[in-house]
Amino acid sequence: MIEQLKFQSLKDLKSEYKDCMKCNLCKDRASVVFGRGNPDAKILIVGEAPGIDEDAYGTPFYGTSGTYLVSLMAKAWPKEDKAFAEIAKLRDDRSFLEAASEYFEDLCFYTNAVMCKPKREVDPKKAEIDACRDRLLQTIYTVDPDLIIACGAVAASAVVGKLIKIKKHLGKLMDVPLPSYISDDIVRYACKVVYSPGYLLIRGDQALVSRQKGDSYKTVIHLKESFSALDYMHTKQRSKHFWEV
Ligand code: URA
Repeated sequence: MIEQLKFQSLKDLKSEYKDCMKCNLCKDRASVVFGRGNPDAKILIVGEAPGIDEDAYGTPFYGTSGTYLVSLMAKAWPKEDKAFAEIAKLRDDRSFLEAASEYFEDLCFYTNAVMCKPKREVDPKKAEIDACRDRLLQTIYTVDPDLIIACGAVAASAVVGKLIKIKKHLGKLMDVPLPSYISDDIVRYACKVVYSPGYLLIRGDQALVSRQKGDSYKTVIHLKESFSALDYMHTKQRSKHFWEV
């Protein structure tokens, strides 16, 4: 029932933004990329912006970066999860990644700091992030996840509402106070900052993961820390106190 209500709210929110012209990014987009996944997800993944594939297909984390993120999440996922262990047995890479993507789609909701693709794949500008932030916060409030994974500094800054530097915040679990959309209350969310998969692909250090080195490996560790804490974290306390990040 809750899932149905959340689904309807997200659908309404999506349709509110279907012709959005709040910033310049509307000029060159093919799609408004709203979100994908389970409306009642425990984990909300926030990326930076849609890329070429996401713009073409209208869905976030659809292309190479999305597949890379799934492969890192799969490496980080708790071994005790028996259902996932069955997927991990798949020998063929392609079947494994397809099954893992589906599995995470049931547990996560994916969105981005901005819904429209920036030109030439540059980072979205502050004005564009600000113009899209209310939509992002309403998405977070509707899904009401136990954990937000912010992929990269742009995503983290959009969630928090102020400049987050990756060097200082990488791997940190932030306690982020965000507005409730039905009262004056503040809702607190746990937000883990990790590298963006797009950046990791540019680094090209995939092969180092098995040697336990490099930024991709660091990302697996950061994801692992947040996934293993999920069951024990009491992150849904409502409080009016701000925690400065
Ligand atoms: N795809 C997305 O949707 N977001 C990112 O941040 C990277 C790839």
